[in-house]
Amino acid sequence: MPEAIDLRSDTVTRPTSAMWEAMRAAPLGDDVLGDEPTVNRLQERVAAELGKDSACFFPSGTMANQAAIRASTQPGDEVICHPTAHIYHYESGAPAALSGVTLRFADGERGMYAPDALSACVRPENHHFAPARLAVIENTSNGGGGSVWPIDLVRDVTDRARGHALRTHLDGARLWNASVASGAAPRDYAKHFDTVSVCFSKGLGAPVGSAVAGDAQTMKRVYRFRKMFGGAMRQSGMLAAACLHALDHHIDRLAEDHAHAKRLARALAELEPLSIDAESVETNIAYVTVDPEWGPASTLVKSLESRGVRAFASAPDQIRMVTHLDVTRPMIDRAIEIIVECLSVSA
Ligand SMILES: Cc1ncc(COP(=O)(O)O)c(C=O)c1O
Repeated sequence: MPEAIDLRSDTVTRPTSAMWEAMRAAPLGDDVLGDEPTVNRLQERVAAELGKDSACFFPSGTMANQAAIRASTQPGDEVICHPTAHIYHYESGAPAALSGVTLRFADGERGMYAPDALSACVRPENHHFAPARLAVIENTSNGGGGSVWPIDLVRDVTDRARGHALRTHLDGARLWNASVASGAAPRDYAKHFDTVSVCFSKGLGAPVGSAVAGDAQTMKRVYRFRKMFGGAMRQSGMLAAACLHALDHHIDRLAEDHAHAKRLARALAELEPLSIDAESVETNIAYVTVDPEWGPASTLVKSLESRGVRAFASAPDQIRMVTHLDVTRPMIDRAIEIIVECLSVSA
């Protein structure tokens, strides 16, 4: 049986043999004691790429986001984000549990929001209200279908945030996807934020690893909260080496993932019980709606799985598919054939 075509997430990739070699060859130390040469090299590289004073290596994007939120807030504060934000949906209630903050939602199309939506969330100073303290933007927006925030919108929203005396955080788990799709450098986005998190274990294909970058004063707090949350690691240079390898070799190729997602979306848009706006697929994530008259999305997912294509039912009538390093163009074409087969079998 051929290997499954795994479109569940870009997190499923395995290290390439060249990446394994880089991991094996990495000089190691003890990062908690501050002398992990490979982690230090990665942190310096990320800080430079994002134009920040320093960066701190994390085991996951969730911990990176949560340490950044904790560093910019006090318990009782309010954090503004889009209603589809990863920090809200998929981080296990961490903003409440780890930072003691409430979340308030600035709505807008495809995971993005406008300056006025942000302002509408900021309530006047009054002892009844939790003070708004931090605005979070996710770029690309996972829940928004891999949408790329236009750089002018990032500037306008973060300018407005500063006008309200808010701090700003960028959840850049897929910042390199945004950068490759838009042509804007990561630092062009990053310069608008107090803190930025990035992930190496999504489109970049490393097995583990995220980072937060920011100004020196904020990063002291981020560094401390990483320790408090249990994320300070020892010989983590073997992981950092994979991330450095990914930065060297896996950025430009993200354009292939984007082309694959577009190809998939365009083919699915032609299929009767499915609907997707293929032109809105800008990066590596495609959400497809399944006509409930055909059957629930979970039925289609099961049928796909039995034929070797893996995807997530992201809602009762919706499937998410994500392209990545381990998905080739022939695999995309095969996945399209299998989807056609599955749809022709009634649910
Ligand atoms: C936008 C976004 N932020 C953060 C994360 C969290 O990353 P991790 O799974 O490494 O905790 C994810 C995970 O998919 C994500 O999509």
